[in-house]
Amino acid sequence: TFLCISICLGEDYDLDDKTGLGRSFDGIGSLSGGGATSRLLVNYAEPYRSQILDYLFKPTFGASLQILKVEIGGDAQTTDGTEPSHMHYEDDENYFRGYEWWLMKEAKKRNPNITLIGLPWAFPGWVGNGENWPYSFPDITASYVVSWIFGAKQYHDLDIDYVGIWNERSFNSKYIKLLRYTLDKSGLERVKIIASDNLWEPISSVVIADKELQDAVEILGVHYPGTNTVPEALKTGKKLWSSEDYSTFNDNVGGGCWARILNQNYVNGKMTATISWNLVSSYYEDLPFERDGLMTAKEPWSGNYVVESPIWITAHTTQFTEPGWTYLQTVGHFTHGGSYVALTDERGNLTIITETMTHDHSVCIRPPLPSYDVTDQNVTFHLKGTFASISELQVWHSRFDFKTNKTALFQNIKPIKVTEGSFSIELDVDEVYTFTTVRNGQRGSYPDPPPSAPFPKSYKDDFDVSGNPYFSEAPNFADQTGVFEYFTNQTDPGPHVSTLRQVVTQRPVTWVADADQTISVIGDYQWQDLMVSCDIYMESVHAGGVFIAVRVNKGGGVVSHFHFWVNYPFKLFNSDSKDIYNGNYASADLDGYPLWKNAVLWEPRHGWAAIGTSSFELAQFDNFAIEALL
Ligand code: GAL
Repeated sequence: TFLCISICLGEDYDLDDKTGLGRSFDGIGSLSGGGATSRLLVNYAEPYRSQILDYLFKPTFGASLQILKVEIGGDAQTTDGTEPSHMHYEDDENYFRGYEWWLMKEAKKRNPNITLIGLPWAFPGWVGNGENWPYSFPDITASYVVSWIFGAKQYHDLDIDYVGIWNERSFNSKYIKLLRYTLDKSGLERVKIIASDNLWEPISSVVIADKELQDAVEILGVHYPGTNTVPEALKTGKKLWSSEDYSTFNDNVGGGCWARILNQNYVNGKMTATISWNLVSSYYEDLPFERDGLMTAKEPWSGNYVVESPIWITAHTTQFTEPGWTYLQTVGHFTHGGSYVALTDERGNLTIITETMTHDHSVCIRPPLPSYDVTDQNVTFHLKGTFASISELQVWHSRFDFKTNKTALFQNIKPIKVTEGSFSIELDVDEVYTFTTVRNGQRGSYPDPPPSAPFPKSYKDDFDVSGNPYFSEAPNFADQTGVFEYFTNQTDPGPHVSTLRQVVTQRPVTWVADADQTISVIGDYQWQDLMVSCDIYMESVHAGGVFIAVRVNKGGGVVSHFHFWVNYPFKLFNSDSKDIYNGNYASADLDGYPLWKNAVLWEPRHGWAAIGTSSFELAQFDNFAIEALL
């Protein structure tokens, strides 16, 4: 019957390098930051922290990422928190803040060839010289960014390969040219510029019209392109990258989204690199964009982490290619839905990746996905040109099963025989295959991590870190506005010599609307009744204000809190301030004296604990403690 013929014969697809090759492949990568997405990762105990890093970066183990892009911290809120700048103030320089340096080194340790990218979301206030805009003094902005690249090399021996302009905000041609000039003048010709980490336009048209800008920009980087490009972008002749993509809940639909865009960003949009936001969901789950990372590691206190499906989907490409390989021209869509790409090292190796993700099982967060159909189909690949002599291919298979939960990811199945240059395969829907001459793929694994557990109800930190702490931030505090870092308080030796200090003194050049008060949250979002106590020290006597808070129920771009304020016009160290919430009653003590007792408050019902200041001002905190009932 007709049915039999169509199923039995299937469709034919040629993979051929005779007529020339396609574009050069630049890699699959991930983003840490934009912002504070790796915040909780650093606090994991060994061996779990190294295991997580292995799943992300170790070649032929897990995701085996080829690119790591990080935020150049700008002291401002950039989605899930703030990341510290290497220059809080004009006369300040410190290349040991935050965790991105550490992360880049861990990535390089595992994969010395990993490509490194830095991009600012925000800038310290002084860079804008009081304006919420980084281009009025482009020379200051350029030298600020170039300092970060120098610092990476000088203090961490990290070679940054690419640098961006201003994440998803306006670009400025004069600034881009000046950045190029400053890099060149500093001997950093090898560091290339990506522009503009936003839409295809206006950057494409502006690059076409401006020869000098054309020379300054190496890569057109676009965000969430929905696998498509535009004619002007192609006309620039530049490499096209999806320099931020994915941002989808990392369940199996998230895995499906990632599988579809990894193939189709090239097939439809000629993009030769795709970078996921984000690398690993290591932020409190009630902050924005919960679990939008390739895997989840948000419980350093328990050690629990989850290797989610996007890790194995990434492996389908990364374990069998390298940046510098070349796409074949013969890539495309299957007649009955789905897509295939093929890449070669031009020395005889061939890697083919197919995906047949259905619409509803591969929707990404943005942009909207127009409807389309995929059905089971039989396909036959004909290997031609250099590949005609291949006789066998290794096969790696993933199948998302949304009905019976029999999802199988990145399974090494029987090699397939290639007979007279051809092989056929029955493709089901929601599957990913890799067919490859590369033999060393591996589904890495570690014993299961400890079970998930809530944040401890009883928690203390005296911030007494002996010697030089490796990280500048105290564990589990997630700064939402301002930056809180370890501080040695030489003016007040004794029990308060090691403190945690809020250090941002001027509103940054922001990426979203940061609060007017600085705040760092900690603990469990579900907490209702608890007692928080802390020693506090206002450095801005007369003008300042310091708070401890409970039931903080919003983070990210908007923060809100019920809190206990101290803004007396005198220094207050050595005081034990307490903020207690029980049922609908709140009480506060200062230095043993009740400030108020059993104030009736209905909202919010639950939230994190927090510390903070009433403005961008210096303040210190010590002997922080929480006792939570629920
Ligand atoms: C992007 C942004 C990221 C993050 C993400 C969430 O537009 O660059 O920092 O906010 O959206 O989907």
